Amino acid sequence: MAEEMTFSIIKPNAVKKQAIGAIIKKLEDGGLKVAAAKMIKISRDKCEEFYAEHKERPFFNELVEFMTSGPVLVMALKGENAIAKNREIMGATNPAEAAPGTIRNEFGDSVGENAVHGSDSPESAQRELALFFEPNEFVNA
Ligand code: RTP
Ligand code: MG
Repeated sequence: MAEEMTFSIIKPNAVKKQAIGAIIKKLEDGGLKVAAAKMIKISRDKCEEFYAEHKERPFFNELVEFMTSGPVLVMALKGENAIAKNREIMGATNPAEAAPGTIRNEFGDSVGENAVHGSDSPESAQRELALFFEPNEFVNA
C-alpha cells in the first residue's frame, strides 16, 4: 500500500473540550503525520457543499448547524494506508459503538457530536482536501 493523504476535522465539541492535543497524539502515535493544519470556522455554504452526500438525510440540518457552531481544526494527514488507518484510530461513527482507545470512544459525545471526521475513500479524500486547502498549504507533505 502506497503513501496516502486523507482529510481530517477535529469537530467543534472536541475543540471546545480542549482535546486537540490528545487527538493529534493518537493520530501521530498511529503513524500518521500532519501535512497541513489550520483552525477555521466553516461557513454554512461550505459545510453544505462538504456534506452534500447527506443532503437528503434527516440529520442534515442538525449536522450543518453543529459543524458551523464553533471553530474546527482541519488537517491533511499523510502516511501508509492513511485513509483506513485514520478511520481505525477514529472508531465507529456512534461513540457508544466505538472500540476502547479510539478517538470517538474517548472524546465523542453522541453520534452527531462525534469529535472527528475522516475521509472514507481516495475520491472523498481528494475532494475534501481540495475544498479546504490550497496546493501550497501542504507544507509538510
Ligand atoms: P464522518 O463522515 O464525519 O467522518 O463520519 P462517518 O463517515 O463515520 O459517518 P457518515 O455516515 O459519513 O455521517 C457523517 C456525520 O453525520 C453525523 N451523523 N449524524 N444523527 C444521526 O443519526 C447521524 N448519523 C450521522 C455524524 O456526525 C457523522 O460523523
Ligand atoms: Mg463520512
